[in-house]
Amino acid sequence: MLGALGTGTLPYLAALPAYAKTPAMAAIPYGAAVRTDPLYDDPAYKKAILDHCQIIVGEGGLKWIDLRPDRHIFDFTQPDRQLAFAEEHGLEMRGHTLIWYGAMPEWTETIASAEEARFELVSHIETVVGRYRGRIRSWDVCNEPIADNPTRDAPIRDSVWQRHLGRDYIELALRTTAAIDPDARLVINDYDIEQATDSGRAKRKAFLDLVRDLKARDVPLHAVGLQGHIRPDIPIDRSGLTAFVAELDAMGLGVLVTELDVIDDSLPGPVAERDAAVAAVAKEFLEAIGAACRPEAVVTWGISDRFTWVPIWFTRGDGMPNRPLPLDADYQKKPMMQVIEDFTRSFNQ
Ligand code: G3I
Repeated sequence: MLGALGTGTLPYLAALPAYAKTPAMAAIPYGAAVRTDPLYDDPAYKKAILDHCQIIVGEGGLKWIDLRPDRHIFDFTQPDRQLAFAEEHGLEMRGHTLIWYGAMPEWTETIASAEEARFELVSHIETVVGRYRGRIRSWDVCNEPIADNPTRDAPIRDSVWQRHLGRDYIELALRTTAAIDPDARLVINDYDIEQATDSGRAKRKAFLDLVRDLKARDVPLHAVGLQGHIRPDIPIDRSGLTAFVAELDAMGLGVLVTELDVIDDSLPGPVAERDAAVAAVAKEFLEAIGAACRPEAVVTWGISDRFTWVPIWFTRGDGMPNRPLPLDADYQKKPMMQVIEDFTRSFNQ
C-alpha cells in the first residue's frame, strides 16, 4: 500500500493535512481507527497500520469520556500517544470527536443552563484544539448531530448541547474550532446516510438542510464525514447517496468516508462467502460516493477483525466472530481490503 505522504510533497499547502491536498493524480489516502495500546505492544498490529495506512484516528481517546474524567481534568494520555505514533511514522491523525451526544462522562449531566453548556463546549474545544493546533488538522467537530428519524420540526438529535443551546451548538462548535485553528479542516460526521429507507432519506434531507444553512451563513465547515457502518440487511440507496454527495460537492464541501465497516451479523456464516459479501457491500457504498466526488479519504473503523466494536451490539446468532474489517484477526488481507485499494487507486489519473 502507499506510504505516508509528507508535507514536503506540496509545500505551499503545508498547512493542510497531507491527504486534504493530495494532488488529483494520486490515490485517495486510506486510514483506520486505532486502539492505542496495540500500536505500541502488538508488532503485527503496528505493521498492519504502517503497511496500509496514511491516516489514523483514535477509536477512543478524544471523546469526553476519555478526556474529561472530571470537569477540571483533561487526560491527554491516549491522544498524545496516538499522535506521537502518527508523527513518528509520517501519518496524518484525524481528531474524533469534539462534540457528540455519546461517550459523555457523568458530570456532564449536571450541565444545567445555556450559559454553562456554552462555557463547557467552548472551553473544551479551546483546550483540545489548542493543544493539537497544526498537528491534528482534520476534526470531526460535531459527531452524529442528525436525529435518527428527523422531522421538519426536529431534525437535530437530542443531546445536552441541543437541549441547552438548540441547533446553534453546531455553529458555535464550528466557529470556536476555526478560531483556535484556522487551518484545521472542519467536518460534521454522521451515519446511516446511505440507507434506502424512510429514515435514510430523511437523514439525507436533514443533513443537506443543515449544511446549506451553515454555508449560507458563512459558518466555517469544510467537509462531511459519511461513517459507513453498513448494514447489508438494509439496502444502499445508490442513486440517493450519489445525489446527496453531488449536492455536497456542488456546495464546495469535501466528503470523507470516516468509519467504514460492514456489520455482518445478518450474513451467512461460511467465511469465504461472508468475506465476499462484505467486500461487495463496501464496494457498492464506495462507488455510489465515488460516482459524484473524489472522496478526501477512506477510513475504516479499525483495520483488523481482531479489534472491532461490532460484537458490542451485533453478535452473530451462530456464535462466529464478526468479520467487518479489511484484514482478518491475523492481519491477513481480505477481499474488502482489495476493494478499498482498487477504489482509492481508481482515482489516479
Ligand atoms: O476501556 C474500557 C474497559 O476498561 C472496560 O473494562 C470496558 C467494559 O466496560 O469498557 C471499555 O471502554 C469501552 C471503549 O469502547 C473501549 O473499548 C466502552 O465501554 C465502550 O462504550 C466504547 O465503545 C466505543 C463507542 O464508540 C463509544 O465510545 C467503541 O469502541 C467505538 O468503536 C465506538 O465508535 C463509534 C464512533 O465513535 C462514532 N460512530 C459510531 C461508532 C461505533 O459505535
